[in-house]
Amino acid sequence: MLQDKVCVITGGSGSIGLATARLFVEQGANVVLVDLSEESLAAAAATLPEGKVLTCAADVGDAAQTRAFVDATVARWGRIDVLFCNAGNSGVIGGIEDYPDDGLDVVFRVHVRGAFLSCKYALAHMSSGGSIIINSSVAGLGGSPGIYAYCTAKHAQIGLMRSLAKELAGKGIRVNSLHPGPIDNAFQTHIEDSFSPLIGGADATALMNSSIPLGRHGKPEEIAKSALYLASDMSSFTTGSMLVTDGGFTA
Ligand SMILES: NC(=O)c1ccc[n+]([C@@H]2O[C@H](COP(=O)([O-])OP(=O)(O)OC[C@H]3O[C@@H](n4cnc5c(N)ncnc54)[C@H](O)[C@@H]3O)[C@@H](O)[C@H]2O)c1
Repeated sequence: MLQDKVCVITGGSGSIGLATARLFVEQGANVVLVDLSEESLAAAAATLPEGKVLTCAADVGDAAQTRAFVDATVARWGRIDVLFCNAGNSGVIGGIEDYPDDGLDVVFRVHVRGAFLSCKYALAHMSSGGSIIINSSVAGLGGSPGIYAYCTAKHAQIGLMRSLAKELAGKGIRVNSLHPGPIDNAFQTHIEDSFSPLIGGADATALMNSSIPLGRHGKPEEIAKSALYLASDMSSFTTGSMLVTDGGFTA
């Protein structure tokens, strides 16, 4: 479904990013993994077929580093077909009165500024048929006590996605957001462990599972399949939309 497509994945050595890279490569793509550390990128690349992957250490919140990974992609493969803005951090989880004044800044810098810069600089190398996917969350669709930075950043990504979808439709480039529910990985375990004190010490993981009609957390590979749908021509008439992959959590 992605034969010879050039797919840039930020947060590419993380759980969802790497699962997506693996599926995209299985579908014929060349992938560019962007993440913070050379070591994590090397470990991720070692799990993928040689010749199908380029790694770029970069902070997506930094404009010069973003231009550098875009330039490296173009130097290697000449263009960008798919951009998956997936890099993320969870930030502080805690009550509003003790919430740090700059708590939103560090999280917005990755999710919102990071996605904005990636789109801004990748665009010059994308053409009709291209697809941008912004990995938001169910946290972009509703609030939770104490999750101020993450929830507001994930909501903000929808505004970015909608504005881009309208601006880029004339160029034939589609822009959509993906909204995973709780995933069984270290990122979500950290959020749930931090959330428990805000709900009276209850087991947040068990509470989540009881709130998900399918009765379990998702797997990174299940989010990768939704990303594949949005990346490929299977979604050729879909832009400006939000794909919720959450086991029914927000139903
Ligand atoms: N895990 C979940 O339950 C869940 C649910 C909904 C949405 N999401 C979203 O999915 C995305 C991927 O998360 P994940 O679960 O794979 O977690 P993860 O921590 O495994 O992956 C996130 C990756 O982003 C990278 N990253 C962080 N800041 C960066 C920066 N400034 N520049 C470049 N890379 C940076 C991290 O190093 C990490 O490899 C995130 O945007 C997250 O908000 C996750």
